[in-house]
Amino acid sequence: MRGGDYSRLQGVSGATRAAGIAAVARTGEGRRRPAAARVAGGLVAAGGLAAAYMVFEAQWVKRRQVDLPVPGLPEMWSGLTVLHLADVHAGAFLTNERSLRKVVRWAEPLAPDLVFLTGDILGDPAKSGACLDLLAQIRPSLGMFAVTGNHEHGLSKAPLARPVGTSGLWSAAGITLLSDSCVALPPRHGTQVIVCGADYLTGGYGLLADGSPAGAVAKTAGDSPPSAGRAGVAFPILLIHDPPPADAELASIFPLAFAGHTHGGQLRVPAPSGLTPLNRQHNKFLDGVHRWGAGLLVVTRGVGTSFLPFRLFTRPEATLWRLVYTSPEHSDQRMNAPEEENAHGRIPG
Ligand SMILES: [Fe+2]
Repeated sequence: MRGGDYSRLQGVSGATRAAGIAAVARTGEGRRRPAAARVAGGLVAAGGLAAAYMVFEAQWVKRRQVDLPVPGLPEMWSGLTVLHLADVHAGAFLTNERSLRKVVRWAEPLAPDLVFLTGDILGDPAKSGACLDLLAQIRPSLGMFAVTGNHEHGLSKAPLARPVGTSGLWSAAGITLLSDSCVALPPRHGTQVIVCGADYLTGGYGLLADGSPAGAVAKTAGDSPPSAGRAGVAFPILLIHDPPPADAELASIFPLAFAGHTHGGQLRVPAPSGLTPLNRQHNKFLDGVHRWGAGLLVVTRGVGTSFLPFRLFTRPEATLWRLVYTSPEHSDQRMNAPEEENAHGRIPG
């Protein structure tokens, strides 16, 4: 309180004086309050802007067409196109459905040969139908294949998470769910591509138990395991939700695998070492193409989000890969920068 304010209270009774001091004190608080309110208001506005940007980024889907040189791919299959999607988290947020709608609108006219859905596609079963209806519009010529993620099994940090019970939903949408099972695509000149899927709970253990992808194909078809050479040249591809480490046993039998689960970190903040996920995960394969054993592992950031409809410096993505034959000795390609590799089409913003 300033001296002048007190001097004006000289000569009045004690009670009146005390009331006057209190009034002057309140006036002083009143002068300070606007500054504090301005700071608080600024913080709220900044938080609101940041949240608005993160909601925007969550729907800013990067859609790309990229060549993927695959060592050992049978030449007859060179040019096979695969749309790889994961982590739609249908029903979790409206933003997820909007992102998927953009992806389907872009992908449908591109007519991919295959669609791979590597887990956490479905959320609330009551709200998942719309997303499956959207996916069904793509109609890939050789099929749409899916594997379960943790969310389809009700495994998540969300307190109300529960198993979804998805088997009927997949088949109604024309999607083949692979649970430690395999499907052989129609052969081309004696060569086969075999698509195998790992169940989230087993981590693909059932595929190992079948001895080989060809054995898993035979088991899936109710056939006896093939003798050596019966299957001809077979190139197996693995779909799995959680990216396995490079020394996983699966890497010894699959030269190519597709995974999701990481969301690319979903929220990344600048740090001295570069953009760093706020929620650090055990998995070092956050996104991109990686050497994986003797083969390749492709990890997508996914289409949707979980827990919050936010992304920060980790845009959602949908990629139409064109698998290109390359001999095993030319496998020394650049990794982890798929956006810089041989884009064969327009890269929309
Ligand atoms: Fe997941």
